[in-house]
Amino acid sequence: MTCSQNNFEPLGKIGSPLAYEFWVIKHSKRITMKKTVLITGATTGIGKATAFAFGNKGYNVVFTSRNQAKGEAFSKELSEKGIENSFLELDVTNEEAVKTVVEKAVAKYGKLDALVNNAGVALGSVLMADATTENLKQMLDTNVMGVFYGMKYAIREMLKTGGGAIVNLASIAGHNGLLYTAQYCASKHAVVGLTKGAAIDYATMGIRINAIAPGATKTDILQSSIDIGTYSEESIAAIHPMKRMGTPKEIANGIVFLASDDCPFMTGTTLFVDGGYNAQ
Ligand SMILES: NC(=O)c1ccc[n+]([C@@H]2O[C@H](COP(=O)([O-])OP(=O)(O)OC[C@H]3O[C@@H](n4cnc5c(N)ncnc54)[C@H](OP(=O)(O)O)[C@@H]3O)[C@@H](O)[C@H]2O)c1
Repeated sequence: MTCSQNNFEPLGKIGSPLAYEFWVIKHSKRITMKKTVLITGATTGIGKATAFAFGNKGYNVVFTSRNQAKGEAFSKELSEKGIENSFLELDVTNEEAVKTVVEKAVAKYGKLDALVNNAGVALGSVLMADATTENLKQMLDTNVMGVFYGMKYAIREMLKTGGGAIVNLASIAGHNGLLYTAQYCASKHAVVGLTKGAAIDYATMGIRINAIAPGATKTDILQSSIDIGTYSEESIAAIHPMKRMGTPKEIANGIVFLASDDCPFMTGTTLFVDGGYNAQ
């Protein structure tokens, strides 16, 4: 049943108590039938574009950031566009905090229809033997453990409320080796592995789990490497057959598709939104 469908309209004369009762049922049903998405790390880049994309499709948007001020400012921005939203502060490396955020989202909106594990870091673009152990540990904590915690607690809630869809941010670096990014590649290959394994575990339980693999996309995550001269925008664009970088909105559209009812037979796969990179 979609939000606009209902069986109550013809019952009761306009103005009668019965009509009022059915009006209440119809409208409360509308509220509970609205879908809810939780997006981690959504005040910048791909996460931010994804929040708008879901919001524009009518979802309640629960989003997180480690930064209170950024979160509150973005919440205001979403509200000004008429998007129902809730901001929760979260560091995805903290398992207990991830559990709490998932539970708060469900407590507020009744259920969680979609989770986007977007928060991620890319630290230290250097030859592998020059990389710091600390950087790799931080990437594994955020990009892998953060995704694991998000899936673990969202799945527990989705199982109680009839299923849902999870989209994990992988990368072209989750399927290929890329210069100066061995450690980041390791973390994103792990995201692909978690996605495939979990998808199989829950394939018959109403939960679809997919990954998205963006090609290089113009966001803060690449900007620091561009600023210090490791790469230039031109050199990054040149490795893609389309000879350009992607935009956050292009990635967001792929994420919304994977979370939607338009692809009910898709699970455990990776959608490449990469200007042809992976086809080479
Ligand atoms: N841009 C690309 O070229 C590209 C390509 C492939 C994949 N990706 C992936 O896409 C995702 C989004 O990245 P982006 O490009 O949009 O970069 P971004 O603008 O730097 O966004 C990353 C977000 O992750 C959040 N974050 C980082 N560490 C966190 C932690 N410990 N706990 C909670 N949140 C944390 C940050 O939020 P706060 O600082 O507000 O907490 C930030 O908003 C990442 O997983 C990235 O690996 C990006």
